Amino acid sequence: MSHSLRGQSLLSLADVNSETLFKLLKTAMNLKGRLAGGEHESLTKILPGRVIVLVFQKPSLRTRASFEIAIRRLGGSSIYLAPGDVGLDTRERTEDVAKVLGRYADAIVARVFGHDIVERLAQHAGIPVINALSDMYHPCQALADLLTITETFGSPTGVKLTYVGDGNNVAHSLLLASALAGMQITVACPRGYKPNPRVLEIAGRLAIAGASFSVVHDPREGVRDADVIYTDVWASMGEEHEAAERRVAFAGYQVNRELLEAARNGHERVVSGRRLPIVLHCLPAHYGEEITEDVVAEHPEIFEQAENRLHAQMALLAQILRR
Ligand code: CP
Ligand code: NVA
Repeated sequence: MSHSLRGQSLLSLADVNSETLFKLLKTAMNLKGRLAGGEHESLTKILPGRVIVLVFQKPSLRTRASFEIAIRRLGGSSIYLAPGDVGLDTRERTEDVAKVLGRYADAIVARVFGHDIVERLAQHAGIPVINALSDMYHPCQALADLLTITETFGSPTGVKLTYVGDGNNVAHSLLLASALAGMQITVACPRGYKPNPRVLEIAGRLAIAGASFSVVHDPREGVRDADVIYTDVWASMGEEHEAAERRVAFAGYQVNRELLEAARNGHERVVSGRRLPIVLHCLPAHYGEEITEDVVAEHPEIFEQAENRLHAQMALLAQILRR
C-alpha cells in the first residue's frame, strides 16, 4: 500500500490507500471539468513528451481508446501493441519484454490473461505498469465506477452496491474499491462462481469505516434496497468455451425490470434526479444474458460510466507520471 502513486505501478487497488484513492477521484473530477471547459491547451502541459506503450493480449474498445485519448489529452503520446504482436511468454519471455520496453517508454499499460504477467512486467520493466485488465483484476474500471458513484451520491462512502453475476476480475476490483471507499458491497452469484476468497481477505484488510462485504446466492435478496446494481458478462474474455454452461448457471442472475423492482422493495428513492437503484455495467454488454435491452436504454449512467474511464485514467496517468 503506497501513499503516493508517483512513479508507481497500479496492478490492483491494493496498490493505493483510501487517501490516494479519494485524491484520484478529486483530480478526475477536476480534469473532467477542465476538459468540459475547453482547457485543451493547458491540459497538454501535464505530460508533455511522455511516451506510453500499450501491450494488449485481449481485445478492447473502452480501455484502449480511453487510455490513448487520455495520454494525448495530457500532451503525451502512445504506441499500441496488439494481441499477437508481442507474444508475451510465447514469442518472448515476459521478463525480457519488460526489460526492453522499460528502456523505450515512460510507462506500460498492459491487458493480459494471467495476473502474474502484469506482476512480472512490473518487476522487470523499471517503469510504472498499469493493469488494464487481467484475469484477476480490472482496477481502472473500478476507478471509473467510483467516479460515477461519487458524481451521483456525492461520496461513495455508505453507498450500497450489489454486483449481480460472476465473481470475476470486475467483481474483485469492486470489492477492493468498496473496501477503500467505505461502500457496502454484496456479490450475488451462483454457488460455483464466488469471488476469490483471497480477494475477500485483502478487501477485509483494506476496509475503512463503513465498508462491508457479503456474498449471497439469491439475487432478489442481494439487491434489496441497493443504491447501485452492477453487472458484467457471464463469460469473460478467455472463458468463451464455457459460455454455454455459464448461460445455464447464471440463468436467474439477469438484471431486468423485475430485479430492479425487487431492489426497490416498495420504496421510491431519487438521488441527483435519478430513481434508485442506478445501474452500472462495465461493457461490453451481452443483451438478453446478464442485462436486458430495456434496462440499458433506461439507464444512461452506463454510458457516463464508460465516459468516466477517460477522466479517471487522465487522473491516474497524471498522478503516476507527472514530474
Ligand atoms: N470495460 C472495458 O474494459 O471495456 P473494453 O474491454 O472494451 O476495454
Ligand atoms: N469480465 C470481463 C470484463 C470486460 C471489460 C472480461 O474480463 O472479459
